[in-house]
Amino acid sequence: MAIPRKKFVAGNFKMNTTSSEVAPYLESFRLETEKINEVDIVLIPPFTSLSKVSEILGGAQKIRLGAQNMSSEAKGAYTGEISAAMLRDLFVRYVLVGHSERRRLFGETDETVRRKLVTALNSELRPILCIGETLEERQAGQEKNILESQLRAALEGLSAEEISEVVIAYEPVWAIGTGLTATPEQAQEAHSFIRDHLGKLAGTSVANKARILYGGSVTPSNARELMSQEDIDGALVGGASLDPRGFAEIVAAAVPAK
Ligand code: 13P
Repeated sequence: MAIPRKKFVAGNFKMNTTSSEVAPYLESFRLETEKINEVDIVLIPPFTSLSKVSEILGGAQKIRLGAQNMSSEAKGAYTGEISAAMLRDLFVRYVLVGHSERRRLFGETDETVRRKLVTALNSELRPILCIGETLEERQAGQEKNILESQLRAALEGLSAEEISEVVIAYEPVWAIGTGLTATPEQAQEAHSFIRDHLGKLAGTSVANKARILYGGSVTPSNARELMSQEDIDGALVGGASLDPRGFAEIVAAAVPAK
């Protein structure tokens, strides 16, 4: 029998929106999602808007806050970096780790990703670990090997309890920002593989409870079908999260059918 897992939808704004743009965004998004309680919602704006979003959302946040990146170091002479403590201070709960844009454009290695993940866990931030294969890797039939090696590099040796704090996002690199979504079948196959592998690393109970999000050209029109797959527990949305109404539609698409 399928294990019920609360759906989880996160919007990664990437390098879009200024801090003065977030107030009208939130006004519209909150109105549109007001009645939805069945989905965990996370907004991941740029660092410069975190404080404003946090202030607008207030203490009892139904919508939670995430950061797009974080230093693996606790503090010190690291010009331009942002620490876990700085994020916690703004009531940030989640942090993206290992996004393919960070790996590809900013040289983050599996080792960097692991260090950041461990720092997040030690700082009571919940990491959203992003993994996924490139088009060449998929065409070479290597996607499962890539997923396995990224999962292993990030998680091997952590306790089951630590792994249970991690949200996984499967984001095939070829589907990000391209309009080329993975088919629900392709995504389901990858998610089921990831869950099996989590089982090997942390036991089946942790694996069955883990939330595994799909990311890559999710839109209001494909969200429901993707998220109705057995092992797809939500979405990590880039471009389509910039429109508050469209993003609210994606959140609504995660509400389980009655
Ligand atoms: P798009 O939804 O724009 O394809 O981006 C996905 C993504 O990278 C989310 O982190």
